[in-house]
Amino acid sequence: MKTLEIAVIPGDGIGKEVVPEALRVLDAIADIHEGLKFNYTHYPWSSEYYVEHGTMMPENGLELIKGSNAIFLGAVGDPNLVPDHVSLGGLLLRIRREFEQVINVRPAKQLRGMVSPLSNPKNFDILIVRENSEGEYSSSGGRVHNGIDEIVVQNAVFTKRGVSRVMEYGFEIAGKRNGHLTSATKSNGIAHSMPFWDEVFNELSAGYPDIKTRSEHIDALSAFFITRPETLDVVVASNLFGDILSDLGAAIMGSIGIAPAANVNLNGKYPSMFEPVHGSAPDIYGKGIANPIGQIWTAKMMLDHLGEPEMGAIVLEAIERTLEANIKTGDIGGSSTTSEVTDAIIAAMKEQI
Ligand code: NAI
Ligand code: MG
Repeated sequence: MKTLEIAVIPGDGIGKEVVPEALRVLDAIADIHEGLKFNYTHYPWSSEYYVEHGTMMPENGLELIKGSNAIFLGAVGDPNLVPDHVSLGGLLLRIRREFEQVINVRPAKQLRGMVSPLSNPKNFDILIVRENSEGEYSSSGGRVHNGIDEIVVQNAVFTKRGVSRVMEYGFEIAGKRNGHLTSATKSNGIAHSMPFWDEVFNELSAGYPDIKTRSEHIDALSAFFITRPETLDVVVASNLFGDILSDLGAAIMGSIGIAPAANVNLNGKYPSMFEPVHGSAPDIYGKGIANPIGQIWTAKMMLDHLGEPEMGAIVLEAIERTLEANIKTGDIGGSSTTSEVTDAIIAAMKEQI
């Protein structure tokens, strides 16, 4: 029996609605796969927890979840209770940083049954591999002087180690998909970091002769996401470029409510964390209408990561069958509830065995 220890952090808002739904899907997987079991440990770390304890997680919080096989997180943020920089910084960003989750992986795939806002969507299937630890999102910089004399410096930090490891991840994963890797650059406008980015990309590509490579400037590449997304396979990008591209990817899929993500630890010292792209959606929280697909597809990514790609495939197929049957929440044009969509997905999983 393979028992996977999962640290479950529903967080705030609709995280508390969609996480239990995704756990129902994982339980159905455990029913289908007799050799597989999940052991969940639930942590109530959230903005409400902050109001009660003055901190987003206990002092030994990271210690508590460090030994798990994966962290499964909903969404963090309740601006009415705690400022966003405190809640995200005190929980999500701490886990990402301290557990060295240096890569963020986000698929943008045209699912059967989904209506893309693109007027003539081809069958696209993109995987965005985003650097998750440095680049443009560094704390290096500062402000000096006042008034008209004020000077602000924000440094982007690119290390050979950081750039190489995200690119290597991109090459490896491209080898397992369609063998095509696109690098998001801007070396025609950014004088130091992006020429360096290109250099490392070219150096590394020599070691992967079977992977077809392409470099595109971020502005043009953004346009390709709209005009010909079907020509892209894996896209490797810096922290900022990857952030923007992954929202664009979620948009062309048809809703942020279906977009999944993984924060991947590469050195094996800490668990990876799986969380959907969307936030806590306070505007719809409590109504039972949140789309559970983002969280459920995230569970599929977790299954893949934990060595169960066949189970992951069953989940994704069930999501597509459910969409094709037009069992959808309001954000994608349907009128089903959160749990009706999950019920349909679980039924479609059982159909496949
Ligand atoms: P959001 O993603 O929570 O919501 C944006 C819009 O999309 C809203 O209209 C919402 O109703 C809709 N939406 C999102 N997920 C949905 C779903 N599953 N089903 C149906 N509709 C869905 O982003 P927003 O409003 O900017 O942020 C709200 C809070 O969430 C803030 O506190 C923010 O900091 C936090 N946040 C947390 C993230 C995380 O935990 N990784 C990511 C983004 C935001
Ligand atoms: Mg973002």
